[in-house]
Amino acid sequence: MRSSVLNIAAALALAGLSSAANMTEWKSQAIYQVLIDRFARTDGSTTAPCELSKFCGGTWAGLIKHLDYIQDMGFTAIQISPVVENMEGETSVGEPYHGYWTQNMYAINKRFGTEQDLKDLSAELHKRGMLLMVDVVVNHMAQKFDNVLPPKVDYTKFKPFNKPEYYHKYCNVTEWKVPQNYQECWLYPFGIALADLKTEDPAVSKEMNEWVKDLVANYSIDGLRIDAAKHVNDGFLAPFVEAAGVFSLGEVLTGEIPDMCRYQTKNLLPGMPNYLEYFKLNTAFNGGGFEELADIRNGAASGCTDVFALGAFSENHDLPRFPSMNNDMMLAKNMMTYVLLTDGIPTIYQGQEQHFNGSETPHNREPVWQAGYDKTAPLYVLTANALKVRKNAQKLSANYTESPAETLKVDGNHLCLKKGPSGSAVVFCVTNKSSSGDAYEYDLRGFEPNDEVVEVLDCKTVTADATGTIKVYNGGGEPKVYVLLSNLEGTGLCPKTEPDAPKEVKNSGNVLGMTSKMAIAVAAGWLAVFLA
Ligand SMILES: *[C@@H]1O[C@H](CO)[C@@H](O)[C@H](O)[C@H]1NC(C)=O
Ligand SMILES: *[C@@H]1O[C@H](CO)[C@@H](O)[C@H](O)[C@H]1NC(C)=O
Ligand SMILES: *[C@@H]1O[C@H](CO)[C@@H](O)[C@H](O)[C@H]1NC(C)=O
Ligand SMILES: *[C@@H]1O[C@H](CO)[C@@H](O)[C@H](O)[C@H]1NC(C)=O
Ligand SMILES: *[C@@H]1O[C@H](CO)[C@@H](O)[C@H](O)[C@H]1NC(C)=O
Ligand SMILES: *[C@@H]1O[C@H](CO)[C@@H](O)[C@H](O)[C@H]1NC(C)=O
Repeated sequence: MRSSVLNIAAALALAGLSSAANMTEWKSQAIYQVLIDRFARTDGSTTAPCELSKFCGGTWAGLIKHLDYIQDMGFTAIQISPVVENMEGETSVGEPYHGYWTQNMYAINKRFGTEQDLKDLSAELHKRGMLLMVDVVVNHMAQKFDNVLPPKVDYTKFKPFNKPEYYHKYCNVTEWKVPQNYQECWLYPFGIALADLKTEDPAVSKEMNEWVKDLVANYSIDGLRIDAAKHVNDGFLAPFVEAAGVFSLGEVLTGEIPDMCRYQTKNLLPGMPNYLEYFKLNTAFNGGGFEELADIRNGAASGCTDVFALGAFSENHDLPRFPSMNNDMMLAKNMMTYVLLTDGIPTIYQGQEQHFNGSETPHNREPVWQAGYDKTAPLYVLTANALKVRKNAQKLSANYTESPAETLKVDGNHLCLKKGPSGSAVVFCVTNKSSSGDAYEYDLRGFEPNDEVVEVLDCKTVTADATGTIKVYNGGGEPKVYVLLSNLEGTGLCPKTEPDAPKEVKNSGNVLGMTSKMAIAVAAGWLAVFLA
């Protein structure tokens, strides 16, 4: 009896009923992840050097001035670095520019600005109809140490957890598949001691819950990302989310369906960044095919309770960026098209839209200002277009967001999905052929007979045949996004269209690797024109 009452309470909390933006609303958002120290400086300066393991000067005030850059790309929410006071000083693994090394949970991180700046950021977002998601660290507090084990920690420096009794005794996480080990031992003991909070202690949990409730209220926060959620005890999570009263994405780093989905089936968390797909997306674009991605989509759809509350992503601040593994722009376009249009909440990490190519931390944390907030960058434009498509489909169909995407085609080189009910559906295909991909075509059945359809990234029209099948013309590995031509109105997409046609065959049998246009030009004696 008692437990069923608790379950109902937890279920209500997980539905976000008490929050400003409930869970249903969060599912329809598109999130841009901001690393505050690396997005914009208060004075807007871009030339002062930025050493990637140290503070580079980004602030909340700086971010406020560049919200147009984010909103014009189509994002409706931002996720920002943790906001509370960190330890000071340099360690053998750098400075706490990222905000994850908490020292005092009851003070705001002065490096990022004042309490008022954070309130101003929140207010400005809300004025724009956007939402604020804040990253919170609950697994540990942090202190510099000299790499002599066990770490000597001065617990009196922490606020509020200022005694050793609030922490697990030191042990290093060594068993990544054994919950007790990875939940109770300390993460990453090098240069920085991440003193592991005893979150199963009712005193710790109670304090955390009160803290988060106040934090959310003080800054009108709409959602949380819970750092290292997998590394605290299960029982801590649901009451914490309930106390916060807002939708939360908890970080659960795993590629195993049961390990991920149990957080939803056991009502521990409403949503998680979708690491299941992350790993298989990487497979698809790093030498493997799309079959495993298609399989894990199906596995998650049946194993998890709500795939629409998972955050779709292909990069974040902890992972080597995709272009560090393969700098082909067309592959990046395909990967981002998938993330932006698949089931779940698309989450793009700052700098992805500028094709940043940093590898492991801290190289994957380049300052965005170094690209000059260029709104004409190819991946910025792609993101803006894909999010216009998604937003329009959401407008046309109330249940678009929660309509499971159906697999139309999957093979080593392609994945084609159809999302949303006929009439407002978005049909899209991604491929890993890359920009050197050959010219070819294939049939794709996903529309109604005789539908007039437009591929919105290239603004080319096609007409479905009597079976609802369209011809997809590829030639250079580009992603394809199709919607009904009649649905374009008011979207700002493709003011002009022209009929699609087979692509020109590249490398058409000549050793010089010329396009067929060039070959004709050569034949006509115009080579000089092309070489000029
Ligand atoms: C979420 O909020 C929207 C808009 O306020 C409302 O229409 C919807 O009923 C709410 N859903 C839930 C589950 O509370
Ligand atoms: C902690 O354990 C990891 C394995 O999980 C190991 O790679 C690392 O060297 C250990 N570090 C220390 C300081 O013991
Ligand atoms: C929230 O604001 C109150 C009043 O200023 C303050 O006492 C409290 O410490 C704040 N809590 C957090 C978590 O910011
Ligand atoms: C990464 O990007 C920079 C700047 O565009 C470029 O100069 C560099 O060659 C790229 N590195 C790789 C490995 O692609
Ligand atoms: C979406 O709504 C339409 C009409 O309201 C309904 O026919 C359809 O079954 C719904 N689809 C899903 C996936 O809920
Ligand atoms: C695309 O998938 C095929 C397997 O079907 C693989 O051989 C190829 O290397 C992949 N391409 C990339 C760029 O990962």
